[in-house]
Amino acid sequence: MKKDTKLTHTGRGEDWQLVNPPVARGSTILFKTLREFEENGRADRFTGLHYGLHGTQTAFALEEALTALEGSYRTALVPSGLAAITVALLACVKSGDHVLVVDCAYGPVRRFCELHLARLGVSATYFDPNIGSGIESLFRPETRAVLCEAPGSLTFEMQDIPAIAAVAHRHDAAVLLDNTWATPYFFDAMAHGVDLSIQAGTKYIGGHADVMIGSVAVREERWWKPLRDVIADYGYSVSPDDCYLALRGLRTLGARLRTHQANAIEVARWLEKRPEVARVLYPALPSDPGYAIWKRDFTGASGLFGVDLKAPSRPALEVFVDSLQLFGIGSSWGGFESLVVPAVFKRTASKSPFLHHAMRLHIGLEDPQDIIADLEQALNKMNQVK
Ligand SMILES: Cc1ncc(COP(=O)(O)O)c(C=O)c1O
Repeated sequence: MKKDTKLTHTGRGEDWQLVNPPVARGSTILFKTLREFEENGRADRFTGLHYGLHGTQTAFALEEALTALEGSYRTALVPSGLAAITVALLACVKSGDHVLVVDCAYGPVRRFCELHLARLGVSATYFDPNIGSGIESLFRPETRAVLCEAPGSLTFEMQDIPAIAAVAHRHDAAVLLDNTWATPYFFDAMAHGVDLSIQAGTKYIGGHADVMIGSVAVREERWWKPLRDVIADYGYSVSPDDCYLALRGLRTLGARLRTHQANAIEVARWLEKRPEVARVLYPALPSDPGYAIWKRDFTGASGLFGVDLKAPSRPALEVFVDSLQLFGIGSSWGGFESLVVPAVFKRTASKSPFLHHAMRLHIGLEDPQDIIADLEQALNKMNQVK
């Protein structure tokens, strides 16, 4: 089955007669006899109905659909994208271990490593996204995981995932990838050597800016129990209402992403030609340093990219952003709407790719000509600021 067919036909759950699985709300699961209750207590708590904490039919349907799309052994759900990253890391380490984290990882990951992994006696080293197989020199005997995010969602550096995975596997370390930008629709993480594939489902999976959810797909059975135990032992549970929204969003992932891609490419090409733009950071553009890797490994690009804007001053930048009519000013991305935010990030192992004002645009599903007209009028207003 091709991905669009999987998105339509998997995760339909039991024979409900309805097209969509219903929202199965519940904490208590009832059993007919004492014996049945006790047998259920001895069975694998992550398969079938046991207790609301571990999911009900709505979660199972979403897990099944994500597993089909990821091509994974199984997929676990968590309440946010950040939780997906932290549980994936926790599943791989014990006290005394070491992890390698890409310098362009989602910002709060740094805080998690520095405050919480450190408290558990796990140390982290940050690496340059362009390191490729040179990552070998950073490995220690106790290195157990490598966390990548390709491209970085604020600075858009690609990473050579197959090269990094080859080294990591030689050192018996797991490869974790935050694949939120491309989603499994545009990048087959499992086929490129990723062991734990992370999604902030809050973005494109949900797709409508109305749900917080995350998922971790595992390539091999051996990662399943450590991961699922961490999630259960920390008490994480995802509400069936949120699973329902995510599954509903997932159905149209392919159709939405194709439009995000087409619109973003059109807008990015237009921006590249503007004198106010020093650079567009978008791996789908041939001018981008990550283009060759993107072209080799990915089958598409989503609607998020960076713009290095030569705004003459801070007031001029404010006029540009505040004049935009079709762009919301706000965090997160992956919904149907266009968004703009300044890109704020920390670097310790590599240089910032921005030289001027670092901005991030999410190109939504509006008509791209309207988006371009909106950017044009806002740039023109910016240019009038003295
Ligand atoms: C690349 C990436 N990963 C993870 C996250 C975290 O997801 P959530 O907001 O669902 O915690 C974000 C949020 O912006 C993100 O951009």
